[in-house]
Amino acid sequence: MPRALRNILVTGGCGFIGSNFIRHSLFQDNFSGKIINLDALTYAGNPENLEDYQNDPRYVFVQGSIENAQLVDRLFDTYDIDTVINFAAESHVDRSIHGPAQFMQTNVMGTFTLLETARKFWAERNDTLFLHISTDEVYGSLGSSGYFTEATAYDPRSPYSASKASSDHVARAYYHTYGLPITLTNCSNNYGPYQFPEKLVPLMILNMLEKKYLPVYGDGKNVRDWLYVQDHVLAIWTVLEQGALGECYNVGGDNEWSNIGLIETLCDVVARETDQKSSELKNLIHFVKDRPGHDQRYAIDCQKIKHNLGWKQTVSFTEGLQKTVHWYLHNMDWVKRVQSGEYQNWIQLNYQNR
Ligand code: NAD
Ligand code: TYD
Repeated sequence: MPRALRNILVTGGCGFIGSNFIRHSLFQDNFSGKIINLDALTYAGNPENLEDYQNDPRYVFVQGSIENAQLVDRLFDTYDIDTVINFAAESHVDRSIHGPAQFMQTNVMGTFTLLETARKFWAERNDTLFLHISTDEVYGSLGSSGYFTEATAYDPRSPYSASKASSDHVARAYYHTYGLPITLTNCSNNYGPYQFPEKLVPLMILNMLEKKYLPVYGDGKNVRDWLYVQDHVLAIWTVLEQGALGECYNVGGDNEWSNIGLIETLCDVVARETDQKSSELKNLIHFVKDRPGHDQRYAIDCQKIKHNLGWKQTVSFTEGLQKTVHWYLHNMDWVKRVQSGEYQNWIQLNYQNR
């Protein structure tokens, strides 16, 4: 029997994966639960991503931080929260190199605050679940062979991955020490609609459209495993409904690409969609100084979620890239507002003093 979910506290629901998750959930007519989206609206959070659900009775948006214990307590109390999905985080490796403090604050202390509230409110209950969303980057860096499994020892190497690894350890400790019902997912690189254009895929698409250089770090041979965001959302629902307590599930695309291979493929897709010559877009490729401590290769073994819970990828890379390029091409107003910072005015107008 799938787990019944009623009042879900989604944190970081205005970001890339969180907003795709909420969209998907509210789009299902048979979803009768309530989603309370707690988001601090950092530069990466844009409530406009969920604008069309503003008046949906199943959806409540609250601007605030997961570090604010009083606010989190109030939300648990007011909405009788039985499920937490913790997406909220600082998520960009490059930013973590330039300013690690906020990563420790949000990712470690924020997660700790949420766990503490859950522990307090759920002491007498047996119908609750805390799903902590994490990354494959906690496992460190691979050479040319091998895969990360759920048994791989943690070896984070950037401030971002170290902060995520810390929060994963704290979440696990709450399961073992206090019996808090926790599950974790560790997912590979996502791509798709609504991704903030600092990450590789949207940055490259938008630079191609503007005929700007395509900055490739180092020799471009670093490898990532790419998953379309909708398939990550489906994996999260699978774990929510069937995941075993105390377990973690790796989620990946079985889809490894070197950065340079991905960028060249993306040039082909953008060229096709915009009626340009792919070779002209490829001429924009520009090798730049490498990221410090740049992890060489990530590759996920996701047999556990496939075998135990029946999840599988549904969107091929060709289809996913095409959908993504299409989405950005047809949402240039969103892009312009995000790039100019105008979306922050939208936030002020719509959410100030609520
Ligand atoms: P994102 O940066 O697009 O969104 C993060 C969201 O969290 C934003 O809406 C931001 O406003 C919000 N936030 C930040 N600090 C907050 C705080 N203190 N309180 C409340 N909200 C806060 O990130 P994303 O790419 O959607 O990633 C979501 C989660 O998934 C993260 O935990 C990330 O580590 C994990 N993850 C991401 C990927 C990926 O490829 N993007 C892969 C695996 C795992
Ligand atoms: P990114 O999207 O930042 O994700 P992560 O570092 O979490 O995997 O970067 C994906 C890969 O692309 C990573 O190996 C770094 C590389 N990269 C570039 O070569 N150029 C860029 O401009 C960016 C943003 C990333």
